Amino acid sequence: MELAADPRLSVTTHPVVGGPTVGPSLNARLGGLSDYPFTRLAALLVDVTPRSNTTPLMLSIGEPQHEPPALLAQALAAAPLADWGKYPPTIGTAPFRAAVHGWLCRRYGLPASFVDVDKGILPATGTREALFQVALLATPQRKDGRQPAVLIPNPFYAVYEGAAALAGAEPVFMPATRETGFLPDLDALSPDLLARTALMYLCTPSNPQGAVADLAYLKKAITLARAYGFVLALDECYAEIWDKAPPPGGFEAALALENDGAGQGQAGQGTANLLVFNSLSKRSSAAGLRSGFIAGDPALIQAFTRLRSYALAGNALPALAAAAALWGDDAHVEENRRLYRQKIDAAEAALKGRYGFYRPAGGFFLWLEVGDGEAATRKLWGEAGVRVLPGAYFTRSEPDGSNAGRPFIRVALVHDTETVARACETIARVLG
Ligand SMILES: Cc1ncc(COP(=O)(O)O)c(C=O)c1O
Repeated sequence: MELAADPRLSVTTHPVVGGPTVGPSLNARLGGLSDYPFTRLAALLVDVTPRSNTTPLMLSIGEPQHEPPALLAQALAAAPLADWGKYPPTIGTAPFRAAVHGWLCRRYGLPASFVDVDKGILPATGTREALFQVALLATPQRKDGRQPAVLIPNPFYAVYEGAAALAGAEPVFMPATRETGFLPDLDALSPDLLARTALMYLCTPSNPQGAVADLAYLKKAITLARAYGFVLALDECYAEIWDKAPPPGGFEAALALENDGAGQGQAGQGTANLLVFNSLSKRSSAAGLRSGFIAGDPALIQAFTRLRSYALAGNALPALAAAAALWGDDAHVEENRRLYRQKIDAAEAALKGRYGFYRPAGGFFLWLEVGDGEAATRKLWGEAGVRVLPGAYFTRSEPDGSNAGRPFIRVALVHDTETVARACETIARVLG
């Protein structure tokens, strides 16, 4: 009663307690998204119970199971307690940027000046959030007078689609099938589409197919980004997990363009239009550290820093120190690769000649063509407790309802070699 007498509160009339309620309005773009792949998997398997004598094997999630390097725990333990009390800086720390820069130069043979150590690198709290936010950075209201397009490989990492749609762009899918070498055919993109493209995501090595883009391919993608004025977001988070040869990276391609000379019109462009995303989740089996980086075009990094000063949660200083230690060390990564190769050998022994098996050039997933991915997933879970993901959950259907991922399953080779061998033998036995 006293409140009603307050003139500040009687100016507007608010609904009274017990009166009609109105639900909060939400971002309608959310409704247009597919359910996340793991949500769809849970729904698919809700009524399937593995036989009682099976031990469930989770080959559905790409979470490395190797023990993270001791270096990680040592660096965390060495951090001053007071550092946990500090807010993480958006631009990270100088030692973090120097360690990433050192790794980029080592890994891709870059001259020190090619990626600006202070203005060309930002920490990411895992690449997932950064890959999401880049769509907010890159999408204008209109591009070429129309709704902007964000180009996404199909199949794709689900975050790209959510990011594009929530940024107000139209996600446009680029088929990446066996016929196109499991990478999008860049020559098939029409000038009309490219003109309204704000952002192109590419993933190399690709998830789920393990395909690697060669240098010529990456050069073409960068050249298109520059010709049509869009951001090229290269997701390279599997770049360190490779079978026979290290996958080339976006910076190597940008450097090659630079060295090709003025005749190509690319000299002096440096890292223009390019952002590279990488992470310690796969390289160092440290998904829980939530630590990655974004690197590239200093103008984009500057604008991204501005956006991220509003949006970033950030890595605590001890986590940045641990990340710096990990980027500075290659020995543990070599050991990781050795273990992944053993797993792929085991998978090859069990599955060669079936389901279109091939050794992935990079990453640790098998992309197996089993006829009907959903039916195979249910069968494997019910009969053997082996959990995989149907390919259709990575792949957007065409307007005619066809879905290039439907015949596939994705199998994550992240457990120890013996478990992987057993799981792959089980897949062959159950699916026949
Ligand atoms: C293709 C791809 N990109 C990015 C990520 C994100 O990884 P993180 O946020 O752990 O760096 C993943 C994780 O599985 C992925 O598969």
